[in-house]
Amino acid sequence: MKKTVLSVKTLAVIVVFTVQYARAQKKAPQLGKASIEEVINAMTPEEKALLLVGPGMPGYAGLTPLEGEPDMRVLGAAGGTAAIPRLGIPETVVADGPAGLRIQPKRKNNTNTFYATAFPVGTLLASTWNPELIEAVGKAMGEEVKEYGVDVLLAPALNIHRNPLNGRNFEYYSEDPLVAGKIAAAYVRGIQANGVGTSVKHFAANNQETNRLTVNAHISERAMRELYLRGFEIAVKESAPWTIMSAYNKIDGTYASANKDLLTTVLRDEWGYKGYVMTDWFGGYPGFENILKEGVVSDVPAQIAAGNDLIMPGMDAQRALLVEAIKSGKADNNAINTSLKRILGYVVETPTFKKYKYSNKPDLKAHAAVTRTAAAEGIVLLKNEGSVLPYTNTTQTIAVFGDTSYNFIAGGTGSGDVNEAYTVSLIEGLTNAGYKIDQDLVTAYTPYVKEVVAKEMKRREENGGLLAVPQRLIEMHLDAGMVAQKAKTDAAAIITIGRNSGENEDRHIENDFYLGQDEIQMINSVSEAFHAEGKKVIVIMNIGGVIETFSWKDKVDAILLAWQPGQEGGNSVADVLSGKTNPSGKLTMTFPVDYNNHASADNWLGLPANNPTDVYYKEGIYVGYRYFNTFKVKPSYEFGFGQSYTTFEFSNLNLSATTFKDEVKVTVTVKNTGKVAGKEVAQLYLTAPAQLEDKPALELKGFAKTKALKPGEQQTLTFVLKAKDLASFIDAQSAWVAEKGTYTVKVGASSEDIKLTKDFTVATDIVAEKVHDTFKTEEGFKDLENK
Ligand code: BGC
Repeated sequence: MKKTVLSVKTLAVIVVFTVQYARAQKKAPQLGKASIEEVINAMTPEEKALLLVGPGMPGYAGLTPLEGEPDMRVLGAAGGTAAIPRLGIPETVVADGPAGLRIQPKRKNNTNTFYATAFPVGTLLASTWNPELIEAVGKAMGEEVKEYGVDVLLAPALNIHRNPLNGRNFEYYSEDPLVAGKIAAAYVRGIQANGVGTSVKHFAANNQETNRLTVNAHISERAMRELYLRGFEIAVKESAPWTIMSAYNKIDGTYASANKDLLTTVLRDEWGYKGYVMTDWFGGYPGFENILKEGVVSDVPAQIAAGNDLIMPGMDAQRALLVEAIKSGKADNNAINTSLKRILGYVVETPTFKKYKYSNKPDLKAHAAVTRTAAAEGIVLLKNEGSVLPYTNTTQTIAVFGDTSYNFIAGGTGSGDVNEAYTVSLIEGLTNAGYKIDQDLVTAYTPYVKEVVAKEMKRREENGGLLAVPQRLIEMHLDAGMVAQKAKTDAAAIITIGRNSGENEDRHIENDFYLGQDEIQMINSVSEAFHAEGKKVIVIMNIGGVIETFSWKDKVDAILLAWQPGQEGGNSVADVLSGKTNPSGKLTMTFPVDYNNHASADNWLGLPANNPTDVYYKEGIYVGYRYFNTFKVKPSYEFGFGQSYTTFEFSNLNLSATTFKDEVKVTVTVKNTGKVAGKEVAQLYLTAPAQLEDKPALELKGFAKTKALKPGEQQTLTFVLKAKDLASFIDAQSAWVAEKGTYTVKVGASSEDIKLTKDFTVATDIVAEKVHDTFKTEEGFKDLENK
């Protein structure tokens, strides 16, 4: 037998080969088993880019997948993070949006349905002034997120209502950052209690839809910090959202998604935020029209370096750019690894990573009850002359006018829309509650509304589908003789005024903020005819944002602001009309007499007027009631306003100290002095000394809602004021300063209905918080001052 002799050289080759083979065979570090650092160290530049730039938007905007494209795990989701199986990283799924989970309800070759509950829109949720209730709504919503296999809900949205015409105000909460922040925090806590995440959006100053991808918002640091960031600060600190979505717009010249002041200095360094930031969809691109243009790519390395960890929904060109930047050393390696760490830190917390077996069967029945109750609590009673409401006459017929009565609007359009199984119309709600409806009007309206709705749907289809902005329906012509006849035979009239809007376009002044001629005619003819017969007229406002009320409110007897109350809307309104629910909603924004009464009206949308590139927030901090109260402009309905079927008395305003040390505790007693049970919102405003800085006449610093108080029952509510609550942002000091002097605590039922006041003093200026010098405005303009 021939002996095989191996040379040293051959032996060496074999050893090297064996070692290499063994290494290759050794599994790459697996997420969840190895540390996150080890996983990141094992990543190729391509894998890093795959995780930092989202995998795209299969079936664009959640429509059915394109020809040949596979079904997504959750059809209709807005995107997610990519899977890297080699490293044990699963894909995760994110979906819209604020009024409930927005996914497609039907799937190919699947007989099951995937409807989600349409909860009330943001304006309504905020109008409850009830964080506890909002947390319960969030819990229900989050259960649907989890049970449909989604990891993050792209909500809540809490941009400030800078101006009533913003097309997305319905998704947002308020003109006041305390209300916005507290409601958002409650919402996040509720959703995340399910073990799924939220994405608080749009950070920050996304206050208009016109040119939203490119517009440059020039805002003073004071207005930024006191108004446009404050709500986010509260939400971050009080609810730790898993993710944050940066806004489309630029702030002082830099895209929000590439703004280091915003995403790192303020969000991380000052507020201590630990989650990750994602862009809004195609954020950082110069306009939707440029998204697919060759050579046009958002500056991904700059976005990541600024602290925007995830680029959404993710485009090949963005990934390629990032790979090149990583390989050439142009990308900031530390920033890349930090972002990867944040995203992987999230991935391991997701139900997907934990292999949660979602049922695709959330408890829709239970959630219908949640949305019905929540909506009823956010409905605002604006007018109730002669106590026409609650309306309890179920024996005689009611004449129901207005197209929207027959086509009730559950929520707005765009990403804030929800695919619900049904919407309870006003007619259905009234019928369910036992009211008798005039059937002649039902017969006349039904075919008319069917036709105008079909036309409108066709128009939307031809104008961009999902992103087409809704137009209101033109009211059916009412024959004067017919209305007079109905006034004789029916016991009362209800008129619904409807408005809808959505992303991509702002609302209009004429025929939108102001009523159209057709609507004015309807209100005139119905109220004249019914009043001539001594009968009452009730208006229901089924709207997402503020409309003009001053010119017509005296013509009707009662006004119920139902907002867009979700899928149980008709039932919720009937609950309030009938008195089953005593209204306790309050306005979280001002209803002006005239559109131009808003200080922002002068600078709204920006310049040049025909295609704005730059918007100047010259009104500074004087947004909403801060302006109306300070400059003594009388609104139609003020911030904080809302009536009840009972009456309340405020008493015993007590402060724990008359000289401020670390805090002042404020207590007040609210008593139900009427005949039915009800809840009241006590609002705590503060008037601060104004030596260092111009200050608004008053600012909301706390609010609390009573439980349902029985007649004669009372409750004592407690508020705590800390130094930061007293402070204003003093730009020259880069600090929140509570200046010395006398502070007046004003507790009331609205910003104009102050019931009790008491003073305390601050002996010397207190620096409540020192911060960084950020948001340098490019060119100087002086904020509006009260001087
Ligand atoms: C909206 C976001 C939304 C995203 C994903 C964008 O157009 O501005 O609010 O979450 O789309 O659908």
